[in-house]
Amino acid sequence: MKICIYPGSFDPVTCGHLDIIYRASKICDKLIVAVGNNESKKPLFTTEERVNLLKLALKDRPDIEIDSFSGLLIDYVKKRNADFVIKGLRALSDFEYEFQMALLNKNQDPNIETLFLVTSINYSYLSSSAVKELARNKGNIDGLVPDCIKDIIMKKFEDKR
Ligand code: PNS
Repeated sequence: MKICIYPGSFDPVTCGHLDIIYRASKICDKLIVAVGNNESKKPLFTTEERVNLLKLALKDRPDIEIDSFSGLLIDYVKKRNADFVIKGLRALSDFEYEFQMALLNKNQDPNIETLFLVTSINYSYLSSSAVKELARNKGNIDGLVPDCIKDIIMKKFEDKR
């Protein structure tokens, strides 16, 4: 039984993340999507909100677990007895950072393998930051985030105005 963890900030989850989640779920027996509780990144949504947005977006997929973690990813991976970490790669620009993270994690625990899934071309330009920038300025985020969370994201910025 291969357990995979797809960690991320998911602030908020985008259609690009969902694409990686669906594809990752086909190559592992159990997929855990884990929201990193990293307050130093000053996320727009709290960890609990980000978990709930993922739960809404994946309500049709009870086989996929949504969780959160604090501290080091490798400690969480060990705690969950996972075999692989899954990361998505959009462009060359992601590679340097993800390469460093994968090697740092391997330095900390040589048993941990990171698998990279290359994003679908449709989502190669998409990021949570871009979604937030659009929503902050009342732009159109249709098709960029799951429909069921679109209004929650737009409302978050209305509340902030
Ligand atoms: O979506 P992101 O921003 O790429 O996700 C980042 C996340 C949560 C996966 C990353 O920040 C992380 O792994 N944080 C835990 C701390 C850690 O283990 N860092 C690596 C060693 S310095």
